Amino acid sequence: MLSIDLRGKRALVAGIADDGGYGFAIAKALTEAGATVCTGTWPPALNIFQNLLERGKMDESRKLADGSLLQFERIYPLDAAYDSLQDAPAEIRTNKRYKDVGDFSVDGLRQRLVADFGDQSLDIVIHSLANGPEVKNPLLATSRAGYLAAVSVSAYSLVSLVSRLGPLMRPHGAVLSLSYLAGERVVPGYGGGMSAAKAALESDTRTLAYEAGRKYGLRVNTISAGPLASRAASAIGQIQKMVEYYTANAPLPEELTAMEVGTVGAFLCSPLARGISGATIYVDKGYHSMGVEISAGNLL
Ligand SMILES: NC(=O)c1ccc[n+]([C@@H]2O[C@H](COP(=O)([O-])OP(=O)(O)OC[C@H]3O[C@@H](n4cnc5c(N)ncnc54)[C@H](O)[C@@H]3O)[C@@H](O)[C@H]2O)c1
Repeated sequence: MLSIDLRGKRALVAGIADDGGYGFAIAKALTEAGATVCTGTWPPALNIFQNLLERGKMDESRKLADGSLLQFERIYPLDAAYDSLQDAPAEIRTNKRYKDVGDFSVDGLRQRLVADFGDQSLDIVIHSLANGPEVKNPLLATSRAGYLAAVSVSAYSLVSLVSRLGPLMRPHGAVLSLSYLAGERVVPGYGGGMSAAKAALESDTRTLAYEAGRKYGLRVNTISAGPLASRAASAIGQIQKMVEYYTANAPLPEELTAMEVGTVGAFLCSPLARGISGATIYVDKGYHSMGVEISAGNLL
């Protein structure tokens, strides 16, 4: 029987701080397939995440098919806005959420992985993070600083992760990120430069697939996912409306679940997908293929 077999593989999922997002679902699917998972968690959310885990608040969603609970091999602090600790301004380094966690930069993450597991220790890197401080602003009302912050955290961070963690990855490694249709079509409300960040992420997926493919033998793909009422998406506002809009207009008129993205993620990182690289894979109940709204008329 054909199955996703990730036994013996180690994954780093950057962008988990609760059980409500795509990163958590991908971590769960990777674990179901036999991989071990470390997280990179944003320092401002780190304490809350660890408390939720320790107090058993996420036990229901951590439950795996065999009844055991999803475990994280390590939970590393990661602020993907910074490539090295020196890049972080003093007010961040001395902030109460940051000052005691050690080196939270992308290079700090690399160093911790090497210290904990050696220099050929990683098979899978998942980039499941985004932040656009002005996401609620239309592009016309977005400041240069807001725009650059969105692209830095949500797109350049993938380049930074691949360039720093690529050398630690074993042969046939896989990198995966999460994109959104707003990178290629207009989605009013997805502002602050976030649409440009997703366009950059998809373009960089192709270029990184070529460069890291030739250099390290890695595959690099992105999933363009449908809307999910995660913590990050709730910051955009109107996420529930988007979920309903997709349900009304997609070829498959049903709500997308995080695990449906999680299992595609596990597949894309598995040997079964060894022929796929540089791709944007839609996991959105087919919504991206539509040209008109069904709900606006009586086309069916
Ligand atoms: N939810 C959706 O509707 C949707 C749709 C398509 C794509 N996506 C993408 O999926 C990915 C995961 O988002 P999600 O919606 O599952 O929400 P989420 O809240 O689970 O994940 C976002 C994570 O990014 C982290 N983060 C923010 N700034 C960071 C930084 N500077 N350094 C490190 N981590 C940082 C947050 O702490 C959070 O854990 C994002 O790339 C998002 O754009 C989401």
